[in-house]
Amino acid sequence: MPTENSPFPPDFIWGAATASYQIEGAAHEDGRGESVWDRFCATPGKVRNGDSGERACDFYHRYPDDVALMRELGLDAFRFSIAWPRILPEGRGKVNQKGLDFYDRLVDELLAHDIEPFATLFHWDTPQALEDAGGWPSRATAEAFAEYTEAVVRRLGDRVRHWITHNEPWVHAWIGHSWGQHAPGRTSEADAVAAAHHLLLSHGWAVDVIHASAPGSQVGITLNLAQAYPASETAEDEAAAWQVDGEANRWFLDPLFRGAYPADLLERNALVSPVLQDGDLETISAPIDFLGVNNYFRFVVSNGGDGPRMERVAESQHTDMGWEVYPDGLHQLLVRVARDYSPREIYVTENGAAFGDVRVHDGHVHDPERTAYLDTHIAAVSRAIADGAPVKGYFVWSLLDNFEWAHGYSKRFGIIFIDYPTLERVPKDSYYWYRDFISTRARTPQPSPIATG
Ligand code: FCB
Repeated sequence: MPTENSPFPPDFIWGAATASYQIEGAAHEDGRGESVWDRFCATPGKVRNGDSGERACDFYHRYPDDVALMRELGLDAFRFSIAWPRILPEGRGKVNQKGLDFYDRLVDELLAHDIEPFATLFHWDTPQALEDAGGWPSRATAEAFAEYTEAVVRRLGDRVRHWITHNEPWVHAWIGHSWGQHAPGRTSEADAVAAAHHLLLSHGWAVDVIHASAPGSQVGITLNLAQAYPASETAEDEAAAWQVDGEANRWFLDPLFRGAYPADLLERNALVSPVLQDGDLETISAPIDFLGVNNYFRFVVSNGGDGPRMERVAESQHTDMGWEVYPDGLHQLLVRVARDYSPREIYVTENGAAFGDVRVHDGHVHDPERTAYLDTHIAAVSRAIADGAPVKGYFVWSLLDNFEWAHGYSKRFGIIFIDYPTLERVPKDSYYWYRDFISTRARTPQPSPIATG
């Protein structure tokens, strides 16, 4: 539990995060176009149990009830993403007003309950039409993203003051384009490198578009970052950990904050050079207002002979995803990012854990492991702040159990349990813990960012 002398400032933002495809459902409603995730889920063998986001949590219709639960929780902010195929069903061209209307209603509902909207523009649901035309490996998709951004920000920019351009470009580029385990299911390293470059490029363009269309708003990008620890102190293991750090972290942090791809990743540099054009790195390194950090685990790396090898630390606790629970990794990560890259502000835009939750005879969901995970990771954030990292907010992943990509509905990350057959929402014990935690924070009235923006 927090203590009176905790380093969290009174204006620290306590939030929860979600993503469009994982919660909304209503896949065929109000003119929404097809996304790469609809196509991927419909492809046999791609997603566990043949699950899809077609219905998900039905947040599209039930958002007023969910916002009421957020209010009850005492959230300062809610992070959600906008489904590009609702706004531009064909990816480019004609804007679908009904799609924008949904987010308009959601934003108003949040603000009416004093919850600050944090909108992510891209959480992986590319319109299928754009994938068919070349997808993220093609520069044209980055141009289309800038147009889409403008359509959204024109409509919502008078009320949404925090914008996240992309969520986890590493995951989308590599898991989606090289490993083939996420949509669009490509299996080419060259495609992954090109996709990553165009995601970053489109981020840079979007920063300009957002600042121009919504002056005073805060713009950032969310990266999945994890500290890479060498399995031993040998030079070989240290080099292997540095390589993993380069591939997972520096490949994105360096262009964003230093305007250059890391020199040591020679193979990737060879792959990016054909798509890199003059001026791209200046665009990508345009100043941002904050960095979003998603973190779930750390890497422990040894030299496997033909490349780095990820080690499993047997004595550690692991979540239902098989991810090691290691809170100090978050502390060290935040301090390191602050030291090496000096972002103006940092938000932890995702952190949380999947466990095999069940609703038991008393009607409740007892999830002490998740509560302990959140408690220890929030404590890690507080240590990072004490060590000088400019962390301004923390978002639990996730508000609701939801569609966990290739794992379908088999992994439960929510602090609210979803009974999928009925879609009933059941707050878990961790929800009540987070509510009590938030309510014990010293609360002083904050000037509205809209009034001061
Ligand atoms: C992150 C994603 C998010 C969710 C969590 C568990 O990589 O951004 O959508 O799947 O992992």
